[in-house]
Amino acid sequence: MMEMDKLVALCKRRGYLFQSSEIYGGLNGFWDYGPLGVELKRNVKEAWWRDMVTGHNELITSPGAPTTHQMVGLDCSIIMHPQVWKCSGHYDLFHDFMVDCRVSKKRYRHDQVRGRWVEAKGRKIFVSSQTGGEEGLKETESRALKFFNLRAKQADELSWCSDLVSLTTVADFTEVLGPDANETGTLTAPREFNLMFKTFVGALSGEEGAAFLRPETAQGIFVNFKNVCDSTRVKLPFGIAQVGKSFRNEITPRNFTFRSREFEQMEIEFFCKPSESPDWYKYWRDRRYAWYLSLGLSSSRLQLRDHHADELSHYSCGTADIEYAFPFLPPGEFGELEGIAHRGDFDLRSHMEGKLARKDGELAVELGEDGKPRHKGSGKDLRYFDDQARERFVPHVIEPSAGADRGTLAFLCEAYHEDVVEGDTRVVLKLHPRLAPVKAAILPLVNKDGMPEVAQKLYAELKGELAVQYDDGGAIGRRYRRQDEIGTPFCITVDGQTKEDSTVTLRDRDSLEQVRVPLAGVLDILRGKLKPSC
Ligand code: GAP
Repeated sequence: MMEMDKLVALCKRRGYLFQSSEIYGGLNGFWDYGPLGVELKRNVKEAWWRDMVTGHNELITSPGAPTTHQMVGLDCSIIMHPQVWKCSGHYDLFHDFMVDCRVSKKRYRHDQVRGRWVEAKGRKIFVSSQTGGEEGLKETESRALKFFNLRAKQADELSWCSDLVSLTTVADFTEVLGPDANETGTLTAPREFNLMFKTFVGALSGEEGAAFLRPETAQGIFVNFKNVCDSTRVKLPFGIAQVGKSFRNEITPRNFTFRSREFEQMEIEFFCKPSESPDWYKYWRDRRYAWYLSLGLSSSRLQLRDHHADELSHYSCGTADIEYAFPFLPPGEFGELEGIAHRGDFDLRSHMEGKLARKDGELAVELGEDGKPRHKGSGKDLRYFDDQARERFVPHVIEPSAGADRGTLAFLCEAYHEDVVEGDTRVVLKLHPRLAPVKAAILPLVNKDGMPEVAQKLYAELKGELAVQYDDGGAIGRRYRRQDEIGTPFCITVDGQTKEDSTVTLRDRDSLEQVRVPLAGVLDILRGKLKPSC
């Protein structure tokens, strides 16, 4: 697969992605989408919204679904009542462990530092690295040689005592050589670090005015569950969808947009009867996996990984991740694009009764030292009333939770190709036509003989409906290359024959095939090619 650097360079060169606040040296973990990037990400989000929400037909049973279902949307505020995060568990539990280096002043996520135990000259140390696989092995070897003052040809004096293992397996850091240190024992013991960004609402600057930027969009859906039931005609089973920004103060943002501090999520909370929830879980798991395939990710790089029982949250009867083999990961490793979780009745009950915790195998309101709920719920009745069975109950929830930025990055990685055509290398982004920022380019072969006039008329006709570009600058071959590099799936060329028989050439970006089609039929042909298939 391609090297990540090439994609990063293309994203900057062509206006897909820029580092945030670049002219001031950038801000780690924050990214700006350029003129093409904003279109690509909008297309990802719009494809999701259309395929999951507006395009969903609630009158028929979707393939693989137990029954029919309804879908509606929401757009909630980013800052919510602080109690939301106390009852959801984020206030107490949404943290990572970090370690600091006293010398380099760098901070690392405890579970992301790896390393190998090695012995030489009568001393055994743990040499850290922030990378895995082959690269991690090479890095630890060269750092160990330097530490023990050995030359490369003396590498056999190093006696390796372990594979690359996580720093979490090391109890005492005295003999740990930190990722940027030249001596051992510079790392602090791991400390908890809450990932929520804190802010202050109104003129109050003390704890009274403290609030948080949402770390997920999901909670806005739970706290509006009753509003949606009361204001619409939805009946179980139904889903509520939301797309929006989330914020996490990640300790080590990295891998381009993969781990950012500000990012967008596309989340569904799907509410159903408890007895039907295992079937709905399977349905969403398979449906979401199929969605990525339908938009061009290849099955050889995409995997659906079921969590082991010991990885599951205490309230969940199943969770699966959809993962992609991103090129910045060592071979064989995958990064999460989306999680599909069976959440039982945990969230609605927490917002009703107070923060829940598992006690004696059962979920119960967690009590503080004074015997009162540690975090009080809203006290509102969030149960669903089934008017046929005449009963009230708390629905179970299936949560497909996707990252819009991670999805966009995976589509970009998959799309990047370097093809050799007649001895020349062409860089091409083979984006699915639904996702491509520019759907078609209209090109007059030459700027004379009436060709620009015909091309501009066609451009005006298409522009009303589709994102198209007009390009008359330079040799036709160079214009094709330019469009290939930004991922435009179709080029329409007005040439000498157009005047004679009112046809144009339609060039396919991937096959490079050119066919003549009637000028009057171009819009319909493009509409057909851009139709959703999911
Ligand atoms: N409501 C459940 C939830 O938020 P999550 O696994 O923490 O679950 C869901 O996040 C998705 O959001 C992830 O699969 C990923 O695509 C995206 N995501 C999470 N943290 C991210 C980050 N720091 N940068 C970019 N995307 C992130």
